[in-house]
Amino acid sequence: MLFLCNLCELKHGSALGLDPWEQGRDTLLALLYDGRPKVYRNNCPHQNVPMQYRKDRFMSPDGSRIICFAHGASFRPDNGLCIDGPCLGQSLTSLSCLVDSEGRVWLES
Ligand code: FES
Repeated sequence: MLFLCNLCELKHGSALGLDPWEQGRDTLLALLYDGRPKVYRNNCPHQNVPMQYRKDRFMSPDGSRIICFAHGASFRPDNGLCIDGPCLGQSLTSLSCLVDSEGRVWLES
């Protein structure tokens, strides 16, 4: 398993960019939904590019959607489904994670 972050770093309505493989860019984003962490690849299915506006800015202003700032596609935070924009009906790639007893979030392999 690969350490991602501490659960307390994740807030409802915002997302955290993560670089667990130390590639020099945030290849994943993590957010909290219904009290549970969700992790997606930071890769828009429209043109396979990173989605953030700037560091850790992945969400709509009201925090209800993940936004790709390249062309404005929006995605559900609970399952990554695109609900508006050029990749409508496609989804972000979701990755499985778990939280240990000390509140650390791990990527499952
Ligand atoms: S690359 Fe994401 S909407 Fe176009």
